[in-house]
Amino acid sequence: MAKVLVATDKPFAAVAVKGIREVVEGAGDELVLLEKYTEKQQLLDAVKDVEAMIVRSDIIDAEVFDAAKKLKIVVRAGAGYDNIDLAAATAHKVCVMNTPGQNSNAVAELVFGMLVYAVRNFYNGASGTELKGKKLGILAYGNVGRNVGRIAKGFGMDICAYDAHCHAQVIENDGIRAVASTADLFKECQIVSLHIPATAETKNSINFELMNSMPKGAIIVNTARKEVIDEAGLAKMFEERPDFKYMTDIKPAIDAELAAKYPERYFGTPKKMGAQTAEANINAGIAAARQIEDFLCTGNQKFRVN
Ligand code: 3PG
Repeated sequence: MAKVLVATDKPFAAVAVKGIREVVEGAGDELVLLEKYTEKQQLLDAVKDVEAMIVRSDIIDAEVFDAAKKLKIVVRAGAGYDNIDLAAATAHKVCVMNTPGQNSNAVAELVFGMLVYAVRNFYNGASGTELKGKKLGILAYGNVGRNVGRIAKGFGMDICAYDAHCHAQVIENDGIRAVASTADLFKECQIVSLHIPATAETKNSINFELMNSMPKGAIIVNTARKEVIDEAGLAKMFEERPDFKYMTDIKPAIDAELAAKYPERYFGTPKKMGAQTAEANINAGIAAARQIEDFLCTGNQKFRVN
């Protein structure tokens, strides 16, 4: 019998935990829960005797791998795995997986929750504008980007996308115009929705020059990662472009300053909420549990990222 730990600083919906438990116990294994922990030591204690773990944005670094002597697999219930030290995992012979696509609709829906709020002037009573007919640029056409494109069609938006790792034809096949570069996307689109992962290449890549090339009434919506934004450039953009709005699900370090100075142009969700729906929790959580049981039982390494 293997011990499977669910370690979530931001817990799944109870219904998702129930589903995870059914998968784990159904396979004859034991489920251990560590939710809403506040100290790293709690995590270090919890990982001591587990063979597998499911996490979300929880930081799984070398210290955690050192403490987890029996660990064989970590599944990030979600898409981005920049919170896991892959080199340390590999050094400890631990398999790391994600669950791509399982929470992407939830994130895409939040994009539009924030966009409507932005174009209606943060519901301040003044006439706003509509999303219909506005030019939307989707930066990175992965699972979330595709869902954003699908929903944007319902709003009647004029949609284009760019993805350095996806062939233009794939984008065009969905009835979305593929542009040639990130620079073109920003130059053309009044609204840009970010869906790039945080990597060495993308960190700070959304800089002042790119942002400032956007047409009048520019709005950037960030449900990707805070690291992709150059924060000095963001601050400068707010100062120099009174027409600019920034809506984000991951607060920058300068969140308090922006919120105080620009209460009707800057919005950050109180906590990262993109994937925080029962459906996304069920999909990603249960997929993670199934991937673990399959790995432990058959050695299946599909979705391995290290
Ligand atoms: C992801 O990478 O899957 C999303 O950013 C959601 O992250 P979360 O599980 O921490 O909400």
